[in-house]
Amino acid sequence: MSHNLIPLSKPSFDNREVEAVKDVLESGWVVQGVEVEGFEKLIAKLHQVKNCVAVTSGTAALHISYLSLGLIAGDAVFVPSFAWPSAANMAMLMGIRPVFVDVLPDTYNIDTNDLRSKIGQCIKYKWGRPRAIVPVHEFGLAADMDLVMDVANEFELDVIEDAACALGARYKDIPVGTIGKMGTFSFHPRKAITTGEGGAIITNDDELARKCRTWRNHGMEIVDGKRNFQLPGLNYRMTEFQAAIGKVQFEKLPGILLKRKNIAHKYLKKLNGCPHITLPVDDPENTWQTFMVVLDDKCNRTRIIDIMANGGFGCGAGSVSGHVGNLYMESFGYKPSDLPVSAKLDSNGLALPLHNSVSDADVERCTTLLKETLMEIEK
Ligand SMILES: Cc1ncc(COP(=O)(O)O)c(C=O)c1O
Repeated sequence: MSHNLIPLSKPSFDNREVEAVKDVLESGWVVQGVEVEGFEKLIAKLHQVKNCVAVTSGTAALHISYLSLGLIAGDAVFVPSFAWPSAANMAMLMGIRPVFVDVLPDTYNIDTNDLRSKIGQCIKYKWGRPRAIVPVHEFGLAADMDLVMDVANEFELDVIEDAACALGARYKDIPVGTIGKMGTFSFHPRKAITTGEGGAIITNDDELARKCRTWRNHGMEIVDGKRNFQLPGLNYRMTEFQAAIGKVQFEKLPGILLKRKNIAHKYLKKLNGCPHITLPVDDPENTWQTFMVVLDDKCNRTRIIDIMANGGFGCGAGSVSGHVGNLYMESFGYKPSDLPVSAKLDSNGLALPLHNSVSDADVERCTTLLKETLMEIEK
């Protein structure tokens, strides 16, 4: 393996994050302080929403969203299969039935025709009481929210937008996360900006935001000036260190998104016409958290990943599909072919390095190597 591997993903830190953490350390105030409040204000302002609640991860954000909406055991939520399975896992944890929906082959986002059909099946076979749809804005590209909202309105379901990968993305010029009742984000290091681990919930509903804060903080509220435990709550509080890093990262967001877009466009140009792969769609509103191509069945992905690593490029699978995981196959009898597009993206997706340190020369070398490798298959 090459010693100078260009990783698949890499956060963009400099001395400003170091100074911000140092300031928190020197202040001695490390939780529930001004940094978290400040970070929440920035995220809320970006989205022009009334409330942002910072938490410890995107997964925690989804968990708290379900709790705040009052979802309970016996309910059902509809989630795209091809996505990191936090939305499904948090449902399972709460005794809620996650119903997987297939995705579209060009956008990798929820297929609303299949969504409608899965809601029908859920009702017919009594899988659970339909309560919410959790569209994912996969890899930074918004799901078709007009269609999602049509289905949600028709069946009177809540919508939680899982925008874990899509901070700064827009749908028809509206910030993602603001179209449904709630939106959730992740600040894991593979996202555009990071706080190490971290997440957030945004909502215009003050009551939901209040509940999120209570669930986040041990279920505690101040009643008549006294601490009172109202709910069997969690501790999902973001630390001041994380929020201080987040504030610095937030300033870099426009530059980071622009850089990612430029790299993605270069990949698209260089790989145009390359055999054995399907390229992602070039949507102007995509924020490109991941650049994933889909290999055809003649390719051996593991072997391609090895060749790319030997050549100095950290490539990997794009994401996973929940319905092909053992937990969901064993719990609900899913077979890969039940959701064929998701199954194919799970097995054939190949993500290329995409982050601030990827140079034009890196793109050139990476795409040349990939093209050469794929052309070998022809021989
Ligand atoms: C679509 C999606 N949802 C949720 C998550 C979970 O976020 P976190 O890793 O911060 O818990 C991720 C993270 O990879 C994600 O991609």
